[in-house]
Amino acid sequence: MPRHEFLRGGFFRRVPGAASAAWAPVLEGDEDWLTGCYADELLVTQIAGTIVPADIHGEIMREPTSSSTLPSLVLRMLEDLQVEPGAKVLEIGTGTGYSTAVLCARLGEEYVTSVEYDKDVAARAQSALGRLQVYPTLITGDGLLGYRGGAPYDRVIATCGVRKIPAAWIEQTRPGGLILATVGGWLGSSELACLTVQEDGTASGPLLGGAVSFMLARPQMAPPLGLLPDLSAGREREAVVGADVLDDWTSRFVVQAAVPSAQRLTLEQDGRVEHVLIDAESGSWAAVYEEDERWIVRQDDTEPLWDAVEEQMGRWRVAGAPALTEFTVTVTPKGQTISW
Ligand SMILES: C[S@@+](CC[C@H](N)C(=O)[O-])C[C@H]1O[C@@H](n2cnc3c(N)ncnc32)[C@H](O)[C@@H]1O
Repeated sequence: MPRHEFLRGGFFRRVPGAASAAWAPVLEGDEDWLTGCYADELLVTQIAGTIVPADIHGEIMREPTSSSTLPSLVLRMLEDLQVEPGAKVLEIGTGTGYSTAVLCARLGEEYVTSVEYDKDVAARAQSALGRLQVYPTLITGDGLLGYRGGAPYDRVIATCGVRKIPAAWIEQTRPGGLILATVGGWLGSSELACLTVQEDGTASGPLLGGAVSFMLARPQMAPPLGLLPDLSAGREREAVVGADVLDDWTSRFVVQAAVPSAQRLTLEQDGRVEHVLIDAESGSWAAVYEEDERWIVRQDDTEPLWDAVEEQMGRWRVAGAPALTEFTVTVTPKGQTISW
């Protein structure tokens, strides 16, 4: 697949050594543009919801919002999804259109529907696919709602992450069909999940492993934290579980499932580092720090976040600290559960 056709607008390259992530544009015609296009790397194509490489001279320090997935991950996902000829596929997150084109090459364009949230990104993908004379059904809108017009699908694949597998994807997939998406959250850990849709309208399946991460679906991105609560109030005690569980990919995933609305901040005050979890919706918070080789937690009493973290970590450790590949995601009309 000629990947450079999907990157004619250039891409952003991460600036090495910068303290926080900084990005510099690489444009068509630049010396390393073509080699970059054919490197097995994720290439960021949009930042902060609107900014494209041609907009920037120098560097920019904001979050990426669209990219071309690394080609080996596109192929791995199509293998995980078991896309066989004759299968009708709904893709969420068209991005540059590269993975859409790969799907069309495998299945034929009449079997592929792809939804992109951002209208400018969608328009660029449509032009790139048009240059290659590939014409799948392209929809601009919120892919979390699926696309009823093409249902039922045999396969749903998402190249943006979700906190919860949307009910619409299950409703629009035929029984026995597969849904492949990264399940993640606001603590920044995620994993690919492959769910099989059942006759009764539920879906379940394993996490597949590999620490796969995608930018979260736009409507599910973390809300602003708002005014910080008074982090000096609250009750303090020795913590059973230290804040180091937030640094490891697997234990962070376990914690995230226990406190799905929490976001993390790291503050330095009074000469020590405090690891803070805040739930912007409920206002609950917990601040954890290390003192004399012990972990101390201070938290508000209404909905003690760190109690929930410790309870979940305790259950996971008692079970032998299973790897994420031993986890199962289940979605029923009552909601999503992640178990091991
Ligand atoms: C990692 S990129 C997709 C890359 C694409 N697979 C490729 O090969 O170029 C993720 C895309 O998902 C889109 N996106 C985010 N939330 C979405 C949503 N709710 N519905 C549809 N697309 C969404 C983003 O705008 C972004 O373009």
